[in-house]
Amino acid sequence: MIKLKDVSYVYMQGGPFEKTALKDVNIEIVKGEFIGLIGHTGSGKSTLIQLLNGLIKPTEGSVCVAGYDLTDKKTKMRDVRFDVGLVMQYPEHQLFEETVFKDIAFGPRNMGLSEKEVDSRVRYAANTVGIAPELLEKSPFDLSGGQKRRVAIAGVLAMEPKVLILDEPTAGLDPLGRDEILYKIKDMHERMELTVILVSHSMEDVARLADRILVMNGGRVEMFDVPGKIFEQGKRLSEIGLNVPQITQICDRLREAGMPLEKGIYTIEEAKYQISRILNGGGAA
Ligand SMILES: Nc1ncnc2c1ncn2[C@@H]1O[C@H](COP(=O)(O)OP(=O)(O)OP(=O)(O)O)[C@@H](O)[C@H]1O
Ligand SMILES: [Mg+2]
Repeated sequence: MIKLKDVSYVYMQGGPFEKTALKDVNIEIVKGEFIGLIGHTGSGKSTLIQLLNGLIKPTEGSVCVAGYDLTDKKTKMRDVRFDVGLVMQYPEHQLFEETVFKDIAFGPRNMGLSEKEVDSRVRYAANTVGIAPELLEKSPFDLSGGQKRRVAIAGVLAMEPKVLILDEPTAGLDPLGRDEILYKIKDMHERMELTVILVSHSMEDVARLADRILVMNGGRVEMFDVPGKIFEQGKRLSEIGLNVPQITQICDRLREAGMPLEKGIYTIEEAKYQISRILNGGGAA
């Protein structure tokens, strides 16, 4: 579904403020995977995802997404934007229509769909993110922060993309709104076999949701593996300014204190299982 080969990206190349944001990035992501993308601030996460829907072009290397070669001049970027949905950081700043309905409808209308199809997609997308039908005729500016965020996500979903990329979709939301949005995204991913890339600062969220975790550091891929393998490397993660989930930290402490727990435990269920197995003298919990 996604393949990046020897990708580098340099901002303001040749100028006095030249900045290499990505270096030698090689990754492959298969259809239907849920990828968590983490890294310290400035590590290149936003740059990487903007390459994936063609907002920016790599300085070097090639980018293929959803069957499009984004480095091929003949590729129609318009089509790419429809298949690769990107929800940017703080998307609510990009709402601009007079009603919520029109805002969600903006993408599908641009695709040239019939009004009937636009109408049904808007209602479906709004329902998916938990926007009640009576809100559709309101101004997006009258909504709460969490609701605005949902509207922005619905606008991308209404295009029915094959790949959904979200840059910190829950930043600044209260814990309840956060969990609900993440749950909706996970649910859609499972129901529609949607490929998802979720940029997040929260290790707990990434641990809970992702099939694989991509760790960026200084513009390079530091790790790309299943959560258990990533969280085994707590020492390296802390060297690059990241932590492991709290439950992993607790298990690491217990192991240091002599309890024979495996490395890289990242769910409470697994921790519970392993601890009770040990306490019960090696039998199953
Ligand atoms: N438009 C730009 N012009 C120049 N440099 C930029 C630009 N955007 C980003 N950079 C630089 O490129 C590097 C990577 O930035 P990027 O925004 O991709 O990081 P990030 O991992 O998304 O960070 P954050 O967690 O803060 O969102 C940083 O050093 C940043 O300062
Ligand atoms: Mg960013």
